[in-house]
Amino acid sequence: MSETAPRKRLYIKTYGCQMNVYDSERMADVLSPLGYGMTDSPEGADLVVLNTCHIREKATEKVYSELGKLKELRQAQAEAGGPRLGIVVAGCVAQAEGEEIMRRQPAVDLVVGPQAYHQLPELIARAHRARGERLAADFAPEEKFDALSTARRPTGVTAFLTVQEGCDKFCTFCVVPYTRGGEWSRPAEAVEAEARALAEKGVREVTLLGQNVNAYAGEGGLAGLVRQLAKIPGLDRIRYTTSHPRHMDDALIAAHGEVEELMPYLHLPVQSGSDRILRAMNRAHTAESYLRLIEKIRAARPDIAISGDFIVGFPGERDADFEATLQLVREVGHAGAFSFKYSRRPGTPAAAMPGQVAEAVKDERLARLNAVLEEQQMAFNAAQAGKALPVLFEKRGRHPGQLIGRSPYLQSVHVQAPDRLIGQIVTVKIEEAARNSLAGVLASTGELEPA
Ligand code: SAH
Ligand code: SF4
Ligand code: F3S
Repeated sequence: MSETAPRKRLYIKTYGCQMNVYDSERMADVLSPLGYGMTDSPEGADLVVLNTCHIREKATEKVYSELGKLKELRQAQAEAGGPRLGIVVAGCVAQAEGEEIMRRQPAVDLVVGPQAYHQLPELIARAHRARGERLAADFAPEEKFDALSTARRPTGVTAFLTVQEGCDKFCTFCVVPYTRGGEWSRPAEAVEAEARALAEKGVREVTLLGQNVNAYAGEGGLAGLVRQLAKIPGLDRIRYTTSHPRHMDDALIAAHGEVEELMPYLHLPVQSGSDRILRAMNRAHTAESYLRLIEKIRAARPDIAISGDFIVGFPGERDADFEATLQLVREVGHAGAFSFKYSRRPGTPAAAMPGQVAEAVKDERLARLNAVLEEQQMAFNAAQAGKALPVLFEKRGRHPGQLIGRSPYLQSVHVQAPDRLIGQIVTVKIEEAARNSLAGVLASTGELEPA
């Protein structure tokens, strides 16, 4: 079988969450038949796609500064007689402010929202004739997934797999329900077909993605889907993200205790430890209900690592509310987390709330929260020292002869090991722990399969 060599160069820059990472891969897939091959820098490219994120103001502003640079690059490239650089803006900023993008940066050829990128080939062909098309607005993930083939060209031993999109929760700070639309789940058969295709190409671990992945509404819910995927030969590890506390049902909790392939790591955002603030956020859970939930999950899977998302400086947050957040973090003992300063997003209810918190106060709270989170992360990592953990090797490390893999708890593990172990799950004796990674040695060469 011979594939024709790519004639055109495609550069995709991805911002935001894992779903954007998945979407970027799929965009590369749909553009490949048109002769586009991936390149790792915008210089010399024929087409650049910015797959954007709208979640915080900073993420959005980055897009406009990047577009300014691309416009200059296009000019320089044209003057040097190079290829004409096509510029596409995709993702959540495209969805939320497509018209503004066109107005602020006329160099943009095409704006395409997260539910429309399967139409890229056609749009690009049309853009050659008349620039300035904008395709976003309609939320129909169904049409997109129908158009995308489940046959993918994975590039590693782990892969993301979108199973659910959109959100109906309308937390008062968040733009996602507006950029990704309402909750929608892919049929289990389609997910299974994609997972099988991945496993056949050497993928050993999939991370099921959704804005509210545990709201997966296919038959049997997320627990059923996990059990079904666990049966696929070669697929040894399953993870999922991001979950909402409201959808952490008993069936899913039970799966954590029973399904060996389901990894003992759970990203369960809580945002705040103050019930006042949680109510104002429209989170539909309390600090107490979150704690009870964690208790139940740990009863099913005692060694599970819990991570979370936190927002500091939500409108109206007082010192006492912030202290309650620190208290909750200590009680749960989060092994990792993402923490953010509240960012005022136009059009969301919280943007118009009284009691907006001063930037300096947000900075101080974020620093204090991070200090606690980092301390806990370090403690969690340090607790692995001396243990033997199954590690899935993913790629070469920075040092010669070194491989990098992941523990069941999603920690990076650095080990001196031969390349042929990439894609294998091998027992590693953990010797050292740092805040962001572990280091260890192969437990016994006797277990290694021959080359
Ligand atoms: N669906 C997921 C997370 C989506 S966004 C969930 O419900 O948890 C990822 C994280 O970004 C959120 O959990 C929240 O912590 C953060 N975030 C969202 N909007 C934000 C805003 N306006 N300012 C600061 N952080 C925000
Ligand atoms: Fe945003 Fe809340 Fe939906 Fe998560 S659950 S995507 S934070 S609105
Ligand atoms: Fe950002 Fe859109 Fe993801 S706003 S976090 S890229 S869903």
